[in-house]
Amino acid sequence: MSQEFDVIVIGGGPGGYIAAIRAAQLGFKVACLDEWKNAKGGPAPGGTCTNVGCIPSKALLQSSEHYEQAGHHFADHGINVEGLSLDLAKLLGRKDTVVKQNNDGILYLFKKNKITFFHGRGSFTKAADGGYEIAVAGDKPDTLKGKHIILATGSNARQLPGTPFDETQILSNDGALRIGDVPSRLGVVGSGVIGLEMGSVWRRLGAEVTILEALPGFLGAVDEQVAKEAQKAFTKQGLKFQFGVKITEVKAGKKGVSVAYTDSAGAAQKLDVDKLIVSIGRVPNTNGLNAEAVGLKLDERGAIVVDDDCKTNLPNVWAIGDVVRGPMLAHKAEEEGVAVAERIAGQHGHVNFNTIPWVIYTSPEIAWVGKTEQALKAEGRPYKAGSFPFAANGRARALGDTTGFVKFLADEKTDEILGVHIIGPQASELISEAVVAMEFKASAEDIARICHAHPSLSEATKEAALAVDKRTLNF
Ligand code: FAD
Ligand code: NAI
Repeated sequence: MSQEFDVIVIGGGPGGYIAAIRAAQLGFKVACLDEWKNAKGGPAPGGTCTNVGCIPSKALLQSSEHYEQAGHHFADHGINVEGLSLDLAKLLGRKDTVVKQNNDGILYLFKKNKITFFHGRGSFTKAADGGYEIAVAGDKPDTLKGKHIILATGSNARQLPGTPFDETQILSNDGALRIGDVPSRLGVVGSGVIGLEMGSVWRRLGAEVTILEALPGFLGAVDEQVAKEAQKAFTKQGLKFQFGVKITEVKAGKKGVSVAYTDSAGAAQKLDVDKLIVSIGRVPNTNGLNAEAVGLKLDERGAIVVDDDCKTNLPNVWAIGDVVRGPMLAHKAEEEGVAVAERIAGQHGHVNFNTIPWVIYTSPEIAWVGKTEQALKAEGRPYKAGSFPFAANGRARALGDTTGFVKFLADEKTDEILGVHIIGPQASELISEAVVAMEFKASAEDIARICHAHPSLSEATKEAALAVDKRTLNF
């Protein structure tokens, strides 16, 4: 017999499980379906983010950073480590434990919020009784009826044409997070967020890493000054970059992977590596939804077409997260999930796309919110800029991590903050202050006049705000 729900959420990643929780908080009877399986075939809610994305990558970044610190930087603090060695199996096992803690946490949250969880694939059968019939295929097949459907089916790694992932030699983000032996030579295609984070992990653990990037320059979406500083820092650490490449052939064999490409001058080149990570973006995932059964509209990229409110072309069908337009970020998916649940309840859920922060969790970390300097120039918008280096910040010196700076961009006349760009220690945490400031339409002077704890990295934020008015105190 089919079970009826007010809201059925298909996909239990950060978009879907958060939408389900918010809908349950608002008093709806909610089901959430997710098909991800753990190594034992059991449920592993949390999607890409929890299983093969944000969480495991950050666990590996942390462990590999400890290894790098112990091997290369502890001595600066007078701490001598003898016989340092790497237990990669344990390091990877710790990452798996962190992932499981998060999977279990979400299952607990489903129970706590009285959300019915179904482990299996959800697909449309038909429109029925002013709602939709959804089939669940899995260990316990079922048929559900829902008045509102929220689609949060996420994304998958894009493959190089003609080069499918085998996760042994040609790795997506999934395989890149579970290489069993540190490769001596690791190739990475794409110098975007995954390429830099995973390239950093395996370089720190001992691999020689070469990154091949199609574009002529580095991190095009990032503020140019930050991108320049980042490239300098990563190159110094030993990451090798080739820009303006065109991959012509990838051959995987017993001896490793051979990548043929043309360089920026058009000359034929070859890169021989043990493993190749392909991180060239992600594609929206609507596999198995049976979108045709109900006429759900997709665009040419396969993304579900939605309006500003995440409404699809079908009444009472909503879509959020990586499967729709906009940045592919967990916190963007979560915000859309909350907003959609509130709209279903007749409230005015809202997502401010201008204040979504971006973070790259490399060392140094890179974080930003709002407009870059090159974007403001292209718009012809008059602005003032101010920046402050971590080299002049007492806490950064005490930490022994003085790379980078904080940079403010503010409207020339009104002083409203238009963008904040940080490269350096704890940038991922520091950016929150800028997000709050921009949400409240603060001016640079507002931040400059706020008391910040001493000694703290956040003083660099205050000083950069002061720099907009050319009145830094410590530089
Ligand atoms: P997903 O997390 O992809 O979840 C979708 C879920 O739906 C999956 O569990 C899938 O199995 C399930 N599903 C799909 N179809 C069906 C169906 N028909 N029936 C049932 N279930 C279905 N973002 C950040 O903000 N910060 C980071 O640090 C970060 N790091 C990342 C690192 C890596 C290596 C990768 C790959 C991504 C990272 N991201 C990060 C991006 C982030 O993971 C995504 O933006 C986020 O997971 C999108 O959430 P979502 O809910 O839209 O989809
Ligand atoms: P990306 O879009 O960040 O970078 C892809 C890179 O590959 C680009 O520089 C692009 O020019 C290059 N490229 C594309 N085709 C190529 C080709 N044929 N040859 C060589 N280079 C090519 O995508 P990535 O790194 O795969 O990550 C996907 C998404 O996952 C990110 O955009 C982000 O939304 C999310 N993510 C977020 C993280 C975070 O928030 N810290 C961490 C990791 C992923």
